[in-house]
Amino acid sequence: MGILEVKNVGKRFGGLQALGDVNLSVKENTVHAIIGPNGAGKSTLLNCLVGKLIPDTGSVMFDGQSVLGRKPYEINQMGISRVFQTPEIFGDLTVMENMLIPCFAKRDGAFSLNAITSVPSETDVIEKAEAMLVEMNMADKRHMHSASLSRGDKRRLEIGMCLSQEPRLLLLDEPTAGMARADTNNTIDLLKEIKDQRDITIAIIEHDMHVVFSLADRITVLAQGTPLVEDDPQNIRGNPKVREAYLGESA
Ligand SMILES: Nc1ncnc2c1ncn2[C@@H]1O[C@H](COP(=O)(O)OP(=O)(O)OP(=O)(O)O)[C@@H](O)[C@H]1O
Ligand SMILES: [Mg+2]
Repeated sequence: MGILEVKNVGKRFGGLQALGDVNLSVKENTVHAIIGPNGAGKSTLLNCLVGKLIPDTGSVMFDGQSVLGRKPYEINQMGISRVFQTPEIFGDLTVMENMLIPCFAKRDGAFSLNAITSVPSETDVIEKAEAMLVEMNMADKRHMHSASLSRGDKRRLEIGMCLSQEPRLLLLDEPTAGMARADTNNTIDLLKEIKDQRDITIAIIEHDMHVVFSLADRITVLAQGTPLVEDDPQNIRGNPKVREAYLGESA
């Protein structure tokens, strides 16, 4: 039994069956990669896991509790944090100010913009944010405007913001998309450290196979909204079904 159990999940957008009949079991303290061609339904599936979308059919259980029908912040409180496909940091705020938001939100249970003004007097919140910046190796960038960070550092900040909420399950939607190779390798190293040093399960959507094979313990290949194969990385490489799914994309 996995910490995350997805059973028979389907999601339709008008005439389009974005997810057919998805079954997925993510084991605790592993890195599970979900790969597949563009439009396969990967982000739709993640949206169903975090309360952004409600599937038409099926169930999603996290640690024995259903996530369906819960609001995103409630799912967050259950121990699931997500890094979105498009970075979700505030470019006008400094690195430290961005980090303060989830550190405060965790304590209060819900995100509130009004809360930001009261943060500076909250020593514990500031200490927590500072500690997380140190852990993310970003303490020297604390006063920088977040918009001016490199793509890799934006992701690093975002991942730190998620970790400050002490999730048991971290979901990452293409964390290295659009990155230069050096930034990608830094992100791989960061995720390896997180995997080794924390009691955490990671589910990652990723197009870059170098990232997938560097990190994943298990891989699910999604094609046209349906899992095609779920297997260990060594069996995914060279699997003709997987090759066909990707060749179909470029044909
Ligand atoms: N809100 C929506 N309304 C209508 N169609 C949608 C919506 N969201 C996604 N889709 C469609 O559902 C299908 C799956 O999209 P999804 O974004 O989940 O794919 P993906 O595997 O994440 O692709 P990519 O690798 O490009 O990020 C696509 O055909 C997409 O156009
Ligand atoms: Mg996507």
